[in-house]
Amino acid sequence: MTQDEMKKAVSLVALNYVKSDMIVGIGTGSTVTHFIHALGSIKELVKGAVSSSEDSTRKLNNIGIPVLDTNEVDIIDIYVDSADEVNHHKQMIKGGGAALTREKVISSMAKKFICIVDHTKKVNILGQFPLPIEVIPMARSYVARELVKLRGLPEYRQGVITDNANIILDVRHLNMAHPIHLENKINAIAGVVTVGLFALRPADLVLIATSNTVEIME
Ligand code: 5RP
Repeated sequence: MTQDEMKKAVSLVALNYVKSDMIVGIGTGSTVTHFIHALGSIKELVKGAVSSSEDSTRKLNNIGIPVLDTNEVDIIDIYVDSADEVNHHKQMIKGGGAALTREKVISSMAKKFICIVDHTKKVNILGQFPLPIEVIPMARSYVARELVKLRGLPEYRQGVITDNANIILDVRHLNMAHPIHLENKINAIAGVVTVGLFALRPADLVLIATSNTVEIME
């Protein structure tokens, strides 16, 4: 199977977790795009979706799934999203698609976070993938200097403005042996909107596509 075929296979398995009358949180990216298309086949079942990006909102609108305002929703039954890396504690690096802030809000609101990945995203220690951090534009240089103090190598993601009108720094070389500690530390830097470490709120379930099956990590 190609990587894209694995992404499609894992999103079809995720569909089994969608039950009648649920409000479904929707992530962002190529894996989730497969999930959105799959969700279209049972759209009468769901009460509505909550979306983590303008891109996913457009795709949901195109197939006729109602997109609800997060402010009008108390409970999100499940949140389905992918990741750039996931470890065996179900902690993740996310934000390769620059949608990390809304992804973190929706995953925090969700009763159950189902992470859908192909096996290339599974790692022992997070950090091979550069850590995306969403930053207020005027704080870009200050935050970069603070990240260097943490021994990171930040790089400004040129030409990318997030849905929240902020910028992204991608950071290499950070020590991620203790992801919760690092997430708290980066959260405390003034000007950081969201760090793409999802350790304080990990996934509840990870579905991992291999070339011949989909494994479940609970
Ligand atoms: C977007 C994300 C995505 O989940 C992550 O980048 C994986 O994307 P893809 O499914 O395209 O491999 O965090 O901000």
